[in-house]
Amino acid sequence: MFATMGALGLAPTAQAAPREQPFRAPGAGDLHLTGRAAATVVIVGGGIAGLTAAYELGKAGYDCTVLEARDRTGGRNLTVRGGDTLTDLHGTRQTARFADGQYMNAGPARIPQWMVTLDYCRELGVPVEVFTNVNADAYLYNESAGMTAPQRYRTAKADVYGHVSELLAKATDKGALDEELTAEDRERLIEFLKDWGELGDTLAYEGGERRGYTTVPAAAGTPGVPLGDVPTASEVFASGVGRYFSFEFGFDQAMLMFQPVGGMDRIPQALTRAVGARRIRTGAVVDRITDTGTGVTVTYTQGGRTKKAEADYCVAALPPNILARIPHNLGPGVQSALEAITPSSAAKIGLEYRSRWWETDHRVYGGITETDQDVTHIWHPSHGFHGERGILIGYYNYGADADAYAGLTPRGREERAVAASVKIYGEKYRTELASSFSHHWRQTPHLEAAWHNTPGGPDAPRYQPLNEPTGRVHFAGDWLSYTDAWQHGAFTSARKAVTALHTRVLAS
Ligand code: PHE
Repeated sequence: MFATMGALGLAPTAQAAPREQPFRAPGAGDLHLTGRAAATVVIVGGGIAGLTAAYELGKAGYDCTVLEARDRTGGRNLTVRGGDTLTDLHGTRQTARFADGQYMNAGPARIPQWMVTLDYCRELGVPVEVFTNVNADAYLYNESAGMTAPQRYRTAKADVYGHVSELLAKATDKGALDEELTAEDRERLIEFLKDWGELGDTLAYEGGERRGYTTVPAAAGTPGVPLGDVPTASEVFASGVGRYFSFEFGFDQAMLMFQPVGGMDRIPQALTRAVGARRIRTGAVVDRITDTGTGVTVTYTQGGRTKKAEADYCVAALPPNILARIPHNLGPGVQSALEAITPSSAAKIGLEYRSRWWETDHRVYGGITETDQDVTHIWHPSHGFHGERGILIGYYNYGADADAYAGLTPRGREERAVAASVKIYGEKYRTELASSFSHHWRQTPHLEAAWHNTPGGPDAPRYQPLNEPTGRVHFAGDWLSYTDAWQHGAFTSARKAVTALHTRVLAS
C-alpha cells in the first residue's frame, strides 16, 4: 500500500528516477578470498564496452587482454584535434588543421544527467562541463516551408505556444471540451493557457516579449523595440517550426546535458589508463574467434604478423556488422543474430573559424540551430566562449543526408555545408572559415556504423545467443542495449557481461 501511495505522490518514494539494475563491480577479494585463480579474458574491441569490461573485471584481478584494430582506443568515441590524420575506407586521407586547443567530437558529444556515463566520469576523474543542447537564441530555418530568413528559436517557440494556446483556450471557452472537463477544469485550463501562451484577456495571441526585440531594452529612455510581424496561426503551422520543440524534452535529450572538459575522448583515455596500456594491443585486427571448449582462442594480425591470444573467456565487444564478418565457431544462432542487426549512417563536419562571430555578431553562445536543409543540425560550441577561434559542427546528419555528403570529397562536403548555412548566418560563414574536417561513420575502418538498427529490440528472441554467453564468449556493446547510440548503452551492456562472467567464474 505504501508503494501505491508513493506512486500517487502521497508518500515519499525511495527513488524518483528509475535506475539501471544495481551493478556490483567485481571486488578485489572476490577471486583470491575464495581460492580462485585469476581467470584470463580476451576482450575483442577497445571501444567503450570493451574498455569497461577490462576495467571492471580488472578490479577483481582478472587478467584481461584487449585487442583493438585501430591505432587508438575509444571506438566511436572519437575526438579530432589538429594534426590527427584519418583515412577512410575509400582511401581518402584527411589531416585536421585545427589550431591548438580546438577539437570536434566526431562521435558522442552530449551526456544526459541520468546516464551512467557521468558516474564513470566521476569515478575516473574526468571533469565535465555543461553541454548546451537547447538555446533560445539559436536559429530555425525551414527552407522548404518558404522561410527566407532564419528565425530565433525563441520567436518560433513563442508563436507556436501562443497560437496553440489561443486555439485551445478558445475551443474550451466555446464549450468544445465540455464533455471532457468540468467547469472548474475549464477555468483552470484557460488560466494556464493564458500564462503558457502569453495570451491577452480576449484569449488572443498577439506576440510578446518572449519573441525577442529588434532593439533590446536598456537604460531609461530605451524600453526596447519588440520584434514585429507576429505571424498568424496558419503561417506558424505552415512554417513547420513546431516540430523542433519536442526533441528537447526527450528523456535522452533534455537539459541539462554535459560533456567532458577538453573532448569526449577523455573518457576512453581515462579508461585506457585505468586498464593499463600493457593490457591493450592496438593495431590488432581479429581474424578468427574459436571456442575450444576449455577456453577461447582469438587469432589476429598485428604489424603484418599473425598472432594468437588464448584465454579462459572472451568478451566480444565489436560492432555487430564487423563481428559478423569474423569467422567463428559459435554457431548459426550467433551469426544470424549478428546479421539481423544493420548499421546506420551519421556524419559530422567540424568548421573551424578564425573568430567566434556567432557569439559577437549573433549573440549565440552554444546550442543548436535546426534546419530542414541536409546539414540538419548545426552545433555551436559549448566551451571556449569569448576565445579567439572556435569550431562549429557544420552538419550533424543521419541516413541519406549523411550518405550524400559521404559521397563527396572533403572539399566538396565543406562547400556544400557552407552553401547551405550561409543562408542562415550570412557571409562570415564562408569568409571566416579557416579549415574543416569531415567524418562519416559508415566509411570509418573497423567501425562502419554510427549506430545500429536492431529489429524487434535487443530482447527479441533471435538475439538470445548474444544476450547470454554462447559457450565461453560474452557479447557487449551499445547495440545490445535500449540506449544504442549512447555510451550509456555500452557501459551498461559491458556491466551486464561482466556480471554474468564473474558470477560464472565464482560458481565454477
Ligand atoms: N546519442 C546521439 C546523439 O545524441 C544519437 C542519438 C540522437 C540517439 C537522437 C538518440 C536520439 O546525437
